[in-house]
Amino acid sequence: MVHPEGTESPPGLVQHRPEPPARIVVLVSGSGTNLQALIDAERADEGRPADTAFGGTIVAVGADRTGIQGLERAEQAGIPTFALRVKDFATREDWDRALRDKVAEYRPDLVVSAGFMKLLGPDFLAAFGGRVINTHPALSPSFPGMHGPADALAYGVKITGCTVFFVAGGVDDGPVIAQAAVAVEDDDDVDTLHERIKTAERALLVDVVGRLARLGWTIDIGKRKVTLP
Ligand code: GRF
Repeated sequence: MVHPEGTESPPGLVQHRPEPPARIVVLVSGSGTNLQALIDAERADEGRPADTAFGGTIVAVGADRTGIQGLERAEQAGIPTFALRVKDFATREDWDRALRDKVAEYRPDLVVSAGFMKLLGPDFLAAFGGRVINTHPALSPSFPGMHGPADALAYGVKITGCTVFFVAGGVDDGPVIAQAAVAVEDDDDVDTLHERIKTAERALLVDVVGRLARLGWTIDIGKRKVTLP
């Protein structure tokens, strides 16, 4: 395939090797603690030698709503922000194209959906396919969708966790990059379980984004296999 920058990959493979530091756009819908973990990781780079650095720079933070803590965190960090609300567009497709165009302005190597509560549509993914990752608070393929912690609790599993994956157009079903397990405690409710998952999720996301930024990645679409060289 030929990705938007024009680098050719063998058929069935998507390969990206960002120029350091990798340009990252983060999409949020809520409290933005995952975003904050990425901001903190980038800040920790200051003064460090390049070979131990995080390797990415957050060039913009976008949201599907206004008045959220995630956008405030970005503003406090001096990162450009934008918000595009679905209800301000005639159709969902129009919103998807507007989001694509806005994100494209920042020329991202990587788009990180970090608690972004909207499915990205076909036009967005056509522009950034193979460069969009998401984090899900369950161990895929179990419990996809908006209620991963609640569904895990309701099912009665003893182990759940979080999954970072490349977005492929479905619901939490793209090629898996990394996962972390979290034990379910007897006295957990949805909030306590989700909070413990989010602690693991932030560490996993920072680790994955840093490795993608520093090393680049290859996705074998047919085999659903992600490798970081
Ligand atoms: C995370 O658990 C994410 O996986 C889920 O929503 C939560 C977002 O948390 N979709 P935050 O906004 O990063 O604090």
